[in-house]
Amino acid sequence: MRTRGAVVREAPGKYEVVDIDLDDPRPGELQVRVMAAGLCHSDDHIATRDLPVAVYPFAGGHEGAGIVTVAPPNHKGIREGDHVVFSFVPACGRCRWCAVGRSHLCNMGGSTLSGARPGTTDDFRLHLAEDGRPVGQMSGLSTFCATTTVSVDSVVPLPDDIDFEVACLLSCGVGTGWGSAVNDAAVRPGDAVIVMGVGGVGINAVQGAAHAGATTLVGVDPVPFKREKALEFGATHAVATMDEAVEIVRGPTDGQGADSAIVTVGVTRPDHIGEAFAAIRKAGTCVVTGVGLMTQVGIDIPAGQLAFYGKRLQGSLFGSTNAGADIARQIQLYRQGALKLDELVTTTYALDDIAQGYEDMHAGRNLRGVVVHEH
Ligand SMILES: NC(=O)c1ccc[n+]([C@@H]2O[C@H](COP(=O)([O-])OP(=O)(O)OC[C@H]3O[C@@H](n4cnc5c(N)ncnc54)[C@H](O)[C@@H]3O)[C@@H](O)[C@H]2O)c1
Ligand SMILES: [Zn+2]
Ligand SMILES: [Zn+2]
Repeated sequence: MRTRGAVVREAPGKYEVVDIDLDDPRPGELQVRVMAAGLCHSDDHIATRDLPVAVYPFAGGHEGAGIVTVAPPNHKGIREGDHVVFSFVPACGRCRWCAVGRSHLCNMGGSTLSGARPGTTDDFRLHLAEDGRPVGQMSGLSTFCATTTVSVDSVVPLPDDIDFEVACLLSCGVGTGWGSAVNDAAVRPGDAVIVMGVGGVGINAVQGAAHAGATTLVGVDPVPFKREKALEFGATHAVATMDEAVEIVRGPTDGQGADSAIVTVGVTRPDHIGEAFAAIRKAGTCVVTGVGLMTQVGIDIPAGQLAFYGKRLQGSLFGSTNAGADIARQIQLYRQGALKLDELVTTTYALDDIAQGYEDMHAGRNLRGVVVHEH
């Protein structure tokens, strides 16, 4: 079938809405009418070429929720009409990582930036309508397409009463931030925690750290609006610089430093990681969730501090979220009023205004922008 979607034709470049021909779903795949798609910074990294992908044009979008329109028989029992939320990392259920419950590292995740069907390099679900050229598919999803074809391993069932506009954020931003604090920083009651960068991901690290019991919780962001939001989502302090954050955590930790610092800066640089690493105490944890120029090598960390202070540097993919279990738990927390989702959505956009959405992200106007597809 034919659909419309936002692609980058080359990088650096900008998202542009084009007509796309979509493969019919094969066994093990689903066709989904995408109702809403979140504007995560990672799709912008594709446009700037911070994250190089294997093929251009490349259709963006890895946060989304929608309605299944075509469902060949599949092992999850997903049927036409079901509401689903995507997981930006698929979970095959069979690989070593899925088997041990660490599905965020599923071997199928390798297709995230290749754009092709998992396990292939040249089998594409999307093609440009104008000339039939293959179009890469972000995370095997491309939620910036009004309709898409995905693996059944990329979806999690969504209860019918949850709005698509908030559900779409469960595909990446919520779990990535929340899990960065709860799983990767393993925040404990009474901890002093710094969240560096309070965007769509960092704000959820703030909610996660608050849930896990942080009693000194500092949101750091140069944008005043983000600092305001950090306080609304559970931060005890919100400041513009890491120097101020370090000063705040000094008090309750006898000068030792933060138990953990979580880096969720939009374009994360080596010196950001260095600042966060310097801010943690002995045996503290620095979680690196934000990404920048993918090909850059080197982090500004004194090796002696790593060894002599027994500090930990912990990378975080999707906040170590196990989508099948954790998205359901997050929906339960939302129903109980313990997880803010509605408040994450600052502005909604039509697909044609996606470039404006990213401009607003860069200008610091949104916690999250969300594209609401028209059908
Ligand atoms: N590891 C993963 O699995 C994963 C998943 C999703 C997103 N990401 C990455 O996480 C990062 C954050 O994504 P997002 O969607 O929240 O982006 P965003 O643009 O919404 O938020 C980034 C925030 O960082 C702030 N910032 C910029 N410079 C700063 C500084 N020096 N100190 C403190 N704050 C600063 C900005 O003002 C902004 O509020 C991106 O790099 C994104 O690609 C990683
Ligand atoms: Zn994302
Ligand atoms: Zn797997």
